[in-house]
Amino acid sequence: MLVNMKEMLNKAKEGKYAVPHLNINNLEWTRFILESCEEHKSPVILGVSEGAIKYMGGYKTVYNIVSGLMDDLNITIPVSLHLDHGSSYESCVKAIDNGFTSVMIDASKYSLEENVSITKQVVDYAKDKNVTVEAEIGHIGGSEDSTNSDIAYANVLDAVYLVNNTHIDFLAPALGSVHGLYKGKPKLDFERMKKISEEVNLPLVLHGGTGIFDDQIKKAISLGICKININTELQIAWSNAVRDFVSKNDVYDPRKIIKSGEVAMKDCIYKKLLLFGSIDKA
Ligand code: 13P
Repeated sequence: MLVNMKEMLNKAKEGKYAVPHLNINNLEWTRFILESCEEHKSPVILGVSEGAIKYMGGYKTVYNIVSGLMDDLNITIPVSLHLDHGSSYESCVKAIDNGFTSVMIDASKYSLEENVSITKQVVDYAKDKNVTVEAEIGHIGGSEDSTNSDIAYANVLDAVYLVNNTHIDFLAPALGSVHGLYKGKPKLDFERMKKISEEVNLPLVLHGGTGIFDDQIKKAISLGICKININTELQIAWSNAVRDFVSKNDVYDPRKIIKSGEVAMKDCIYKKLLLFGSIDKA
């Protein structure tokens, strides 16, 4: 069932587990993810970046792929179709108008006042349409080096200010994680995580889930993280398997090539569901 993230993340907060946000990049990935999560009865959030939306053809196409597969595969678990890092009000409106059930507005590069103002606009539009909204505070690093200065840790008072003035559903505070691979060790600020979780009392989102150690993931969940975003790790699992298959087989059928990453990707997903504690929570 295509649903917004409200109930699934409130349940996760209550039950102290995290719902996986897995990024989709094409039809096959969408199928692999839906089949895995259905098999293990885990709720799932299909995250789609603006880049992936462009790659797949557009917002409507993404929605049609997801809803078509859900019908054809008889998917019964709760699935949320979520815009990942929406960069503008317009992008969020497009997603909502085309059937996405949840959006993230990422106005974290702006001043706090601008972030509040853009986020509030999105919330006002989304609320009427039963679409949930995630926003970012601080700045989650996007580089390959966790020690890089493009991480700006979320300020606790700013987080409270954003939540109180926008009425968002979920908050993604920057706590030291980065998108992509880490060069050093991930340095998550758990004290800050705890404080923000207590102060805002909303389900929190952890971006940049690739490369974070299992014990850090478990601790984050115990402190209020209810949604964990994974993209790069799936890309690595899939592409390693495909590379291996292509190097050993004289193959040119694109279906065989793309499908050769299926087992590795599903294996990676299963491990994440186990770690996040979301199995049998659908
Ligand atoms: P990774 O690519 O590091 O797994 O992060 C994904 C993410 O946070 C998407 O928003």
